[in-house]
Amino acid sequence: MKYIFFDTINSTNTYLKNNYEKLEHFTIVCANHQTSGKGRLGRIWIDNDDLLFSILLKDNLKNYPNYSLLIAYSIMKVLKKRITNHKISIKWPNDIMIDDKKICGILLEGISKEKTVCVVIGCGINVNSENFSDELRVKATSLKNILNKKIEKLELLEEIINQFNKDYQEFLSDKSPYIEEINNNFYLKDKEVIFVLKEKNCTGIASKVNSNGEIVIKTENEDIKLSSGEISLESVYKVK
Ligand code: BTN
Repeated sequence: MKYIFFDTINSTNTYLKNNYEKLEHFTIVCANHQTSGKGRLGRIWIDNDDLLFSILLKDNLKNYPNYSLLIAYSIMKVLKKRITNHKISIKWPNDIMIDDKKICGILLEGISKEKTVCVVIGCGINVNSENFSDELRVKATSLKNILNKKIEKLELLEEIINQFNKDYQEFLSDKSPYIEEINNNFYLKDKEVIFVLKEKNCTGIASKVNSNGEIVIKTENEDIKLSSGEISLESVYKVK
């Protein structure tokens, strides 16, 4: 395991994607600020004294599309130790929620030549952000807002990495309870969700995450399984 720290960088995910050949398995890159932070689906990720880090995995990439669920499970456990009076849950596929507000986003990127050679797991946790834009205030919160104190980011990073390292080893040995635990803390459970399937708008009730990491949605006629993308309670979810 190796840590690299930057004060300012374009994006910790981009750094690892550009330098993966010379870096070792389980390299962690952390920055105080990103000038081109990337969110999912081409969005930008804005930070303000938050925890921004990415992990490079090169060996043992078994079932790697589920790594965003796996790290969400690790981060959720660490947050639950610090925050006991709020509901912390996972909004499939890769957001962590405190009550109804997002506290963490995860961007998983594969680097492939012929087959996938490396995976970069990027995490942005709202740690010390205080002032959100009007649009974000209803959707996002930070640890500082919840705990009413400034958080030591590097202590939190170390806790998360140690937890993820244990959870990753357990996952590789096929003994991880992460899917069961995600279902016990599944933000979308029994909520109506809107998604797009084969160019058609559909609605259904989110029921669970199955053992493959897919969300299962009950519609009038059938159970639909979706393996990636974004699901939203207000807006539309796109599937290739
Ligand atoms: C999302 O919810 O849209 C995912 C956000 C992921 C943001 C993190 S911050 C660290 C890493 N570097 C990036 O450019 N993005 C991820």
